[in-house]
Amino acid sequence: MGPLLRVELSVNYPNKPKVLDNLSFEISPGEIVGFAGQSGSGKSTLALSILRLLPKQATVQGRVEFREKNLLACSASEMRQIRGKEIALALQAAGSALNPHLRIETQIKEAWQAHEKASWTIGRKRALDTLAAMNLECDESFLRRYPHQVSIGQAQRIILAMALLHRPALLIADEPTSALDLLAQVELLTLLKKVSREFGASILYISHDLATFRHLCHRICVLNGGSIAECGTPEKIFGNPGAEFTRNLIAAHHALNSSQDFTDPQKNISTPI
Ligand SMILES: Nc1ncnc2c1ncn2[C@@H]1O[C@H](COP(=O)(O)OP(=O)(O)OP(=O)(O)O)[C@@H](O)[C@H]1O
Ligand SMILES: [Mg+2]
Repeated sequence: MGPLLRVELSVNYPNKPKVLDNLSFEISPGEIVGFAGQSGSGKSTLALSILRLLPKQATVQGRVEFREKNLLACSASEMRQIRGKEIALALQAAGSALNPHLRIETQIKEAWQAHEKASWTIGRKRALDTLAAMNLECDESFLRRYPHQVSIGQAQRIILAMALLHRPALLIADEPTSALDLLAQVELLTLLKKVSREFGASILYISHDLATFRHLCHRICVLNGGSIAECGTPEKIFGNPGAEFTRNLIAAHHALNSSQDFTDPQKNISTPI
């Protein structure tokens, strides 16, 4: 079986060249691949370019092959069929990704009707199953709530449930844990693993927080300035990083999580561990 996704991408903006610079990788069916990198390294650009959601001024070159079809050559209507159905995107800003004026049920119903002719009675059953799989209580009163009546952790899981409603083959999750407290982060990461295991979805997982990669991802790609510094298993990346940039990133991560004063300018956090 070939890869589910094969990407070779360069993205330039008129005022910002090489936001992605010959980025090349594959994701197999059921695989969870993490993209780590500093702010501005091109992580969200990668997520949005796969779904052809970049603004018009972006110049995109290369190929995004999904099930052997080059998405960069698809028509707008073909892309609408794929987006949200075969490839779903879950974004970080749980608070703002939901419409504050619409009840939870209305929003899930709209997501259902975007791709399904089957009635909402059938869709509602799927919605309740998916919400339950995301550890959400799914009684009538929950569905009737507005987004401000749920916690951030619940909102993030509602977004995940909506993204999974049509059982996509690929879930792109861009910093899904960044707004969450530690326990909610652990819960979400556990759910992402479950999504891959039980729904069979591949996941392109994006985060700047290295700690979240270790137990979630089959492979980790480290992005540096729009290029891949290195890709490898968590054991390789954490245990024997090949690129200097990865070593620096891990050292910074350790400094932040240790008792040493990482704000002390005398301490060189770029020393390889
Ligand atoms: N519309 C745009 N026009 C010009 N440059 C842009 C535009 N959108 C993004 N960029 C630039 O592209 C680079 C990559 O941005 P991107 O949002 O992909 O980074 P990121 O890795 O997701 O960062 P973060 O971790 O902060 O979310 C940045 O330098 C950013 O300023
Ligand atoms: Mg981003």
